[in-house]
Amino acid sequence: MTDTKQITAPLIARSQCLVMGNWKMNGSMSFNNQLLNDIVMGAASLATSAQLVVCVPSPYLAQACERLSGTPVQWGAQDVSVHTKGAFTGEIGAGMLTDFGCRWVLVGHSERRTLHAESDAVVAQKALAALNAGLTPVVCVGESLQERDAGLAEAVIKRQLAPVLALGAEAVMRLVVAYEPVWAIGTGRTASAQQAQDIHAVIRRLLPSSDHTPVLYGGSVKPDNAKTLFAMPDIDGGLIGGASLVATDFLAIAS
Ligand code: PGA
Repeated sequence: MTDTKQITAPLIARSQCLVMGNWKMNGSMSFNNQLLNDIVMGAASLATSAQLVVCVPSPYLAQACERLSGTPVQWGAQDVSVHTKGAFTGEIGAGMLTDFGCRWVLVGHSERRTLHAESDAVVAQKALAALNAGLTPVVCVGESLQERDAGLAEAVIKRQLAPVLALGAEAVMRLVVAYEPVWAIGTGRTASAQQAQDIHAVIRRLLPSSDHTPVLYGGSVKPDNAKTLFAMPDIDGGLIGGASLVATDFLAIAS
């Protein structure tokens, strides 16, 4: 087991619904300004107690920090280096993210696993780097359509999570897992609430505590399917891509 003595991230309870936006590589200063304003305005009159978080492209962290400080909306990044500092051109260290007020960071999004060849082991190292800097990593896992059709969905999720679980209970109770079936990302093809729940139940059984480590669902979550998904017993919120770029949709998903 990895030494977890340095972990400074807080425990994360499952009690509050977590609705996180993943902007991916979208946005501009003016677009973000409008979107953040609309989200902040809407968040004030949200009927639920869901925690809203936006994960923005790193160049816009300063903008998010400036606009969202003092509001109930939190912000985070979409990736983090396994290293703390040094000769790693283009990388961004966890301490740099906390400098800009980030509380959250996505790790192991399927686009990074596929397009940047991030292995399960690297994803776990990134989660640990985040935890050691006081950040909450959101560890994304999910099977491809081919893997699902071959009956391998559970096996893939277990393989992806194994090095993360090996970080130990103290680490795992301080992170979030996001189940995002690759075939449902950006395709408009959502997993049915039952399909999602089935995998969430598998993930839940692997986790050390029933009170910690929220498990989010991601993949074409929209205002019209969010309620049914979030009503499932082991779905603790959502990781929202496309719909998080439209303030009314993002807010409706959280309401
Ligand atoms: P989507 O993306 O909501 O656009 O399917 C989800 C994600 O990739 O996090």
